[in-house]
Order: sequence, then structure tokens, then C-alpha cells
Amino acid sequence: MASEKISRVGVIGAGQMGGGIAEVCARADVDVLVYESTRELVAAGRTRILRSLDRGVSSGKLTEREREDAAGRLRFTSDLGDFADRQLVCEAVIEDELVKTEIFADLDKVVSDPLAVLASNTSSIPIMKLGMATQNAGRVIGMHFFNPVPVLPLVELVTTLMTSDDVSARAEAFAHDVLGKQVVRSADRSGFVVNSLLVPYLLSAIRMAESGFATAEDIDKAMVLGCAHPMGPLKLSDLVGLDTVKAIADKMYEEFKEPLYAPPPLLLRMVEAGRLGKKAGHGFYRYG
Ligand code: CAA
Repeated sequence: MASEKISRVGVIGAGQMGGGIAEVCARADVDVLVYESTRELVAAGRTRILRSLDRGVSSGKLTEREREDAAGRLRFTSDLGDFADRQLVCEAVIEDELVKTEIFADLDKVVSDPLAVLASNTSSIPIMKLGMATQNAGRVIGMHFFNPVPVLPLVELVTTLMTSDDVSARAEAFAHDVLGKQVVRSADRSGFVVNSLLVPYLLSAIRMAESGFATAEDIDKAMVLGCAHPMGPLKLSDLVGLDTVKAIADKMYEEFKEPLYAPPPLLLRMVEAGRLGKKAGHGFYRYG
């Protein structure tokens, strides 16, 4: 059973992360069912994924035929009941513990294979909390992708005290052998490996801009030109979404009570103002 190849996947949420995960699965020859809660969100998710596939064609990474084949492997639904036959489901909705635990409780009732992988793309919510919302925490695991998912080759695999070895092996084989991602393993601690390092850095940059020590442009320029980062920390915060950066920081602060994870007031005010970054057209920078 553990070696059965995963060819039927579900993705919950078609935002920037869910859409990206669905896209890389479809490009890897996998049948993908994508859930969004309303018809409008389904339409927006479909458009986002098709646009990204178009981008793959225009940058020469995909042929027209490969784009059509990938698009043909994607189906959308607003009914979680349609996920019964899935071998792996990856949840990628907003970083909200209550929303995620409800989804895991529902998925657990619907997905029939006891060895199916129920994965979360959460960046910061301990996976155990999601596992304990189900009757079978052995099949719950963290599979954390990075934005933009079609570009960044990493998946953090997060096993809990309860995750079964079979489920962990299946999830790793899927990420590595089917999707072609590199895998690192992390213990089930809020933030896992990447965000434990990245979030204090992003928050420090926001505090630096807030204090007037340097402008947003100069902070970003310094890290791009001085450390060869592909983008500076404020532009990266805009890409991740400032609401998501805040949600991750809140969870990490809740777990560790360390001031370095506490979201600074400027971040809180920007989120309250709806300046959520690239997706909102305005964050530290303006877009579109
Ligand atoms: N979908 C598909 N392909 C994309 C893409 C997308 N959304 N965005 C960029 N690309 C591709 C482009 O087609 C291009 O491909 P080619 O080189 O083959 O033409 C390549 O990526 C580079 O893109 P661009 O030339 O448009 O732009 P760039 O060189 O400035 O790179 C970037 C853009 C890939 C986003 C790069 O700046 C980068 O890697 N930035 C850092 C991103 C990062 O750190 N992400 C992690 C965030 S943390 C996270 O996600 C997890 C969390 O929990 C918060």
C-alpha cells in the first residue's frame, strides 16, 4: 500500500499557494481536484492557474500541448464530498486555525483510504492541532510549499508525534519523485525550518522601515545588492502577503513568546488598512 503511486490528488483552496500546488501537480501528470467555497472563487482560481500555465509557455518551460494536457487534468468543485477517492489532499486555505481544523475534520470523514495523505500547507500552525481534529491523526502531515510554487523547489515535510511512517514515506515520495521537489524534514514546531529563520528577518526589516532608519527601497536594495537575495525583505513580504506574514508571526509568537516573532505596529496598521501586498495592489510598494 505504501508504495502505491499517488495519481489522484485534491487541493483545498485555489489562492496563490493552492493554485500553485494544483498547477505543479497537474504538470506532473496527476489528476487534480481543486476545492473553492464559491463559484466566484473557483473562477478566480481557474484563471490564476491558467495564467500561470500561459506564463510557462511564454517563458519556454512548457509546450502548448503540455499546457493543454495540464489544464485538462484540473477539475474544480465546491463540494468536499467529491474528495472521497483522493489518495493525497493538500489543504492550502488562509492561515486560520479554526478554518483549517474544520476542513481536516470534514476531510477525515470524506476521504475513504485509511492510508491517504491528508496534508496541510500551513506555515505556522502545529500539524498536531490539525491531526487531532480528525479520527486518524496518523494520516495527517505538513507539506509546506514556497511561493511561487512552480519556481521554488522546496517542500518542508512536517511529521507529528502521530504521523504514520507509511504516510510520511508516501508524502515524501510524492513530493520528490512525482513533483520533483527537494524535501527537508522538520519537527512539528510553529514556523518549521524556513519561517523560523525568515520571519524574524522580515519583521526586522519592517521594524527598520518603521523606525525611519532606512527607506523601504534602500532596505530592499541593500539585501539584493549586498547579499544577492533575489528580492529584498519588504518586496518579499508583499509577495507573501502582509496578512499572511502577520498570521504566521502571531502563531510563532503564540508558540514561543519570543519578542522577535511579535508583529510590529506598522505591519498591524498595514493589514488593518487592507494594504496586504502584491495581491491587493498595494503594500510596501504599489502594483499593477
Ligand atoms: N509562476 C510561474 N513561474 C514564475 C512565477 C510564477 N508565479 N514567477 C516567476 N516565475 C518564473 C518566470 O517565468 C521566470 O522564469 P524564466 O527564468 O525561465 O524566464 C523566473 O521564474 C524568474 O521570474 P522573473 O524573471 O519574472 O522575475 P525574477 O527573476 O525577479 O524572479 C521570483 C521572481 C521567482 C519571485 C524571485 O524574485 C524569487 O525567487 N524571490 C524570492 C521568493 C521567495 O523567497 N519565496 C519564498 C517566500 S516564503 C513562502 O512562500 C512560505 C511562507 O510560509 C511564507
